[in-house]
Amino acid sequence: MTPSARITGSGSYLPARILSNKDLEQIVDTTEDWIFSRSGIRQRHIAAEDEFTSDLALAASREALQSAGRSASEVDLIVVATTTADQVFPSTACLLQERLGIRGCPAFDVQAVCAGFLYALDVVYRYVATGASQCALVVGAETFSRILNWEDRTTCVLFGDGAGAMVVEASDSPGILSSHIHADGTYKDLLCVPVGVSTAYQEILNGRAYTEMQGKEVFRWAVSALGDAVIEVLTTNGMDKAEIDWLVPHQANIRIIKAIAKRLDLSMDQVVVTIDQHGNTSAASVPLAFDAAVKDGRIQSGDKVIFEAFGGGFTWGSMLVQI
Ligand code: UT7
Repeated sequence: MTPSARITGSGSYLPARILSNKDLEQIVDTTEDWIFSRSGIRQRHIAAEDEFTSDLALAASREALQSAGRSASEVDLIVVATTTADQVFPSTACLLQERLGIRGCPAFDVQAVCAGFLYALDVVYRYVATGASQCALVVGAETFSRILNWEDRTTCVLFGDGAGAMVVEASDSPGILSSHIHADGTYKDLLCVPVGVSTAYQEILNGRAYTEMQGKEVFRWAVSALGDAVIEVLTTNGMDKAEIDWLVPHQANIRIIKAIAKRLDLSMDQVVVTIDQHGNTSAASVPLAFDAAVKDGRIQSGDKVIFEAFGGGFTWGSMLVQI
């Protein structure tokens, strides 16, 4: 019998510094009210100057391992989803592996921006379900503040830094029930950092690698693609909307989250919302939200949970998990 891939532990980390909407009024031409009413964000965490994505990933990973009751030496696969790697190479996953004090197991990064964690978890799911991994560590970690133009009010007010991690193990009990990831590169220009090491290395050296977004267009696509994605996951599993206990959505905009909850006929009491506290932490947003709801006791063993996320690429996906 093929094993299922169960989430056996989770952890998270948020940098100490909090930047409120009020603080942002001093930085760009915006208001506390505009940010909250358009996005649902009240504050976000910002990494210290000497704090890097691997630091955030390490703190979240340690907590996830502890909550799973596993030691780092038992991990046989590390996958890190990030858009903001410490270095061009080695991967953040390799840096994390070294800092966890383990050697030999495969470790690599996955890059799908805000859908990155779902992509990473999809990979881990397939490794574990085929018996190639028994105990995997999957992390979403971002220092997104580093790729923001702090003079562009249309983007800098939306994002934050953080990390979330999960331990996924082979099990005889149900776990991840199905995973569905998608991409459409024709929309590459609507949400991007339009420079990279191959095209404009000088821009990167000058610290001018900034996120650009056509907000309205992205919003429209996110609502449509995520609406289809949550129906896809239900249909695949022959499941009724009423059987879902929780939605753990990507935290990009509360209005997008509400639209998807409505598509699933879920009350907002069944939706994990952290956007007010975290902003959009890109690949870290789903595991951060999941961990918050596990820690405060909302998500319990046996619950059926839908994860969804949408990001630059476009990339998007959905997953159904029994906890
Ligand atoms: O995680 C990846 C996926 N990302 C997303 O899904 C994000 C999707 N997009 C959004 O969440 C929303 O489009 C935003 C929150 C980015 C913007 O909300 P909106 O309701 O679409 O506003 P808008 O872009 O249409 O802007 C409305 C007005 C504009 O002024 P005019 O042209 O109407 O005079 C903007 O210039 O608000 C202005 N504006 C701001 N005003 C104050 C834009 N940014 C700001 C700001 N403060 N920070």
